[in-house]
Amino acid sequence: MDTYDAIILGAGAAGLFCGAEAVARGRRIAVLDHAARPGEKIRISGGGRCNFTNRDLTRQNATDRFVSENPRFALSALSRFTAADMIARVDAAGIAWHEKHLGQLFFDGKASQLVDLLVEGVQAGGALRLGTSVEAVRQTEAGFEVVTSEGVLHAPRVVVATGGKSIPKIGASPFGYRLAEQFGLRVTETRPGLVPLTFAEQDLARTAPLSGIAVPARVAHGKRSFDEALLFTHRGLSGPAILQISSYWREGDSLTIDLAPGRDIAAELAAIRAETGRIAIHTALARLLPEKLAHLIVAEAGLSGRLADHGNKALAQLAAQAQAWQVRPVGSEGYRTAEVTVGGVATDELDAKTLEAKRVPGLHFIGEVVDVTGWLGGYNFQWAWSSAWAAAQVI
Ligand code: FDA
Repeated sequence: MDTYDAIILGAGAAGLFCGAEAVARGRRIAVLDHAARPGEKIRISGGGRCNFTNRDLTRQNATDRFVSENPRFALSALSRFTAADMIARVDAAGIAWHEKHLGQLFFDGKASQLVDLLVEGVQAGGALRLGTSVEAVRQTEAGFEVVTSEGVLHAPRVVVATGGKSIPKIGASPFGYRLAEQFGLRVTETRPGLVPLTFAEQDLARTAPLSGIAVPARVAHGKRSFDEALLFTHRGLSGPAILQISSYWREGDSLTIDLAPGRDIAAELAAIRAETGRIAIHTALARLLPEKLAHLIVAEAGLSGRLADHGNKALAQLAAQAQAWQVRPVGSEGYRTAEVTVGGVATDELDAKTLEAKRVPGLHFIGEVVDVTGWLGGYNFQWAWSSAWAAAQVI
C-alpha cells in the first residue's frame, strides 16, 4: 500500500515548494498532478523569466497588496517566510535575478531553473507523480485515502495546492474548490483577476482604432488607484494598470482614468493657446497625448475648431475628459487570459499558521486555491511560497 506522511495535490508553485520543503525536513511526500509537466505557470510567467517575488512587500503594506475577505489572514505565513527568505533560497541555488521596477524580481535566465530546483527537491526523497488524476479524496481512521488514476494512496495529511481556474489549457481546474465544498468548507465567490477588461460594441467602435497604443495612466476604482501603463486593445483595455484594477472591479462598475497623471492638461493647453492658438484643438491635445487618443478625447468632450476659439472653461472640460475619463467595461477576458482567480477557500475556514482546515484536521489548502490574491508584481508567487512553507512545517 502506498502510504506517505502527506500527499500534495498539485505540482504547481505551491505544491512543489511545499513538497521540497517537507522532503528537506525528512518527510515522506507524494506530489500528484494531472498535467504532464510540473510548474507550468512558473515556467510561462514573466515572459519565461518569472517575477518570483516582490522585495517591496512588508508586513505593513501586505494587507493592502492582497485581496481577500480577510486581508490580515496572509500576514502570518508572509511574515514567517518572506520575500528575503525566497531570495536566499534562489541565491543558494545560484539562480541569478534582477529587479525590474516597483520591487519586482525576475530571473536573469529561464524560469525553468526554479522548476528544476523544486522538482529536484521533491525527488530528493519524495515521489512526483505526473499525469495522475485524482478521482476521490476520502477521510479514513488513519487520515485520508486518495484515489487516483494510478492507484490508491494513503496519508494522515493532504495538502490541496491545485491553484485557481485561470488558463485551463495548461491544467487549471476548479478541483480544489470542489474538494473544499465536499468537506463542507465555505468557498467565496470566484472571478478572474489580473485580467484585461472588455468594452461593449458601441464603446469598441470608438476605442478599437487605438488598439496597440500604450500610455502611462492612473486608473481608479473608488479610492483604489494604480499608476502604471494602460494599453488599448481590440477588445477593450489592458496593461498593468488595468490588470491591477481588474481584481477590484465588478461588473457594472465604471473606472476613472487619468491619461496624463501628475500633469495639468488644462494649463498645458492654455500655454499652447498663448503661443499658437490657430491650431485645431485636437492638434493641440495631440502634442500632449498620442494623436489617435487625442482625437478620441476631443470628440468625447464634444469640442472642435481652433484652440484659440476655446476659453478656459472649455479647456477645463477637455482636461477633465482626459484626466477623469469615465469608462464602463462590460466584462473581462475571463479565465482564458486572467493571471489569477480572485476568491477561493474562505480564510475563516483555515488556520492562518498552518493553512489547515479548522473543521477537517489534516486537510491543508495552500497557494491560489485560498481566498488570497496578490497584486501584479510577484505577490502571487510569494503567497504560494509563504503558504507552502507554512504548511510544510507541520506536515
Ligand atoms: P498553480 O496553478 O501554479 O498550480 C496548480 C497545479 O495543480 C497545476 O500544476 C495544475 O495542473 C494542478 N491541478 C489542477 N487541478 C488538478 C487536479 N484536478 N488534479 C491534479 N492536479 C491538478 N504570479 C506572480 O507572482 N508573478 C508572475 O510573474 C506571474 N505571472 C503569471 C503569468 C501567467 C500567464 C499566469 C497564468 C499567472 C501568473 N502569475 C504570476 C500567478 C501565479 O502563476 C499563480 O498565482 C501561482 O502559480 C499559484 O500557484 P499554485 O501552486 O497555487 O497554483
